[in-house]
Amino acid sequence: MDRYAVIGHPVEHSKSPLIHAAFARQTEQQLEYGKIQAPLDGFAGTVADLRARGYLGANVTVPFKFEAYALASELTERALNAGAVNTLSFKDGSIQGDNTDGVGLVRDILHNLKFPLAGKRVLLLGAGGAAEGVLGPLLEALPAKLWIANRTVEKAEAMAGRAGKAVLVPEASSFEALAGQVFDVIINATSSGLSNDKLPLPVGLFAPEALAYDMMYGREMPFMVYARAEGVQHIADGLGMLVEQAAEAFYIWRQVRPDTAPVIKALRES
Ligand code: ATR
Repeated sequence: MDRYAVIGHPVEHSKSPLIHAAFARQTEQQLEYGKIQAPLDGFAGTVADLRARGYLGANVTVPFKFEAYALASELTERALNAGAVNTLSFKDGSIQGDNTDGVGLVRDILHNLKFPLAGKRVLLLGAGGAAEGVLGPLLEALPAKLWIANRTVEKAEAMAGRAGKAVLVPEASSFEALAGQVFDVIINATSSGLSNDKLPLPVGLFAPEALAYDMMYGREMPFMVYARAEGVQHIADGLGMLVEQAAEAFYIWRQVRPDTAPVIKALRES
């Protein structure tokens, strides 16, 4: 049986095994997908062990996406842009690293939520690993404007600067300096929801019919509460992105694209 796994620390709550099992059933692919907690100082050793045991690939989650980037012997353009890897493919003499997070977010917004990004004013909140991972695919969706706001402004500025190859150069600022701006899509890529912290966002940032998207999932995040208080009708969490990034990894490994809609629906109901 072809074998894959998600590697993380912690990893016990990962939904990836459920998602990939559903994809495998749906597409009649014979594979096993497990979860493996690597020691915090033992990511490379865990990958070596999986390769020795004949695994064909792995997903990589917190906190190993940068180590996976360093370990891969070949990187796709998406991984290079993101500076991080969430999907590894083990070939005979090589480890290919890719990043499906950004494409997962964009596909969720465009195809599942049916929100256009082309020509729209997009605000990305955060300048850590999660934000960096989605910036390239967001720019490729050709928004009219892409603005990065972060608590530490220097990080937002550095991130905007690194997106140098793009047609559109992102703008960067603090949260407070957003006052007076209006956006069609606002994406929360900060980890502030984990500590239940509210972001110091000004009022009036949302255009009529705007989308508020929180990349976290599992419960109502403070950013979603803020969006609701601002009268936003279209509010989404990151569950669709989770399933879409998995579908892209599945496609990389199996060259088969699963139908994500029933899997998102089942996860939401469970
Ligand atoms: P991740 O991989 O989740 O992106 P990270 O690289 O540590 O984790 O980045 C966390 C992001 O969330 C950063 O943009 C961080 O802001 P700083 O760059 O100023 O640290 C942001 N963040 C985390 N907690 C926050 C909070 N309570 N308020 C505002 N921003 C927060």
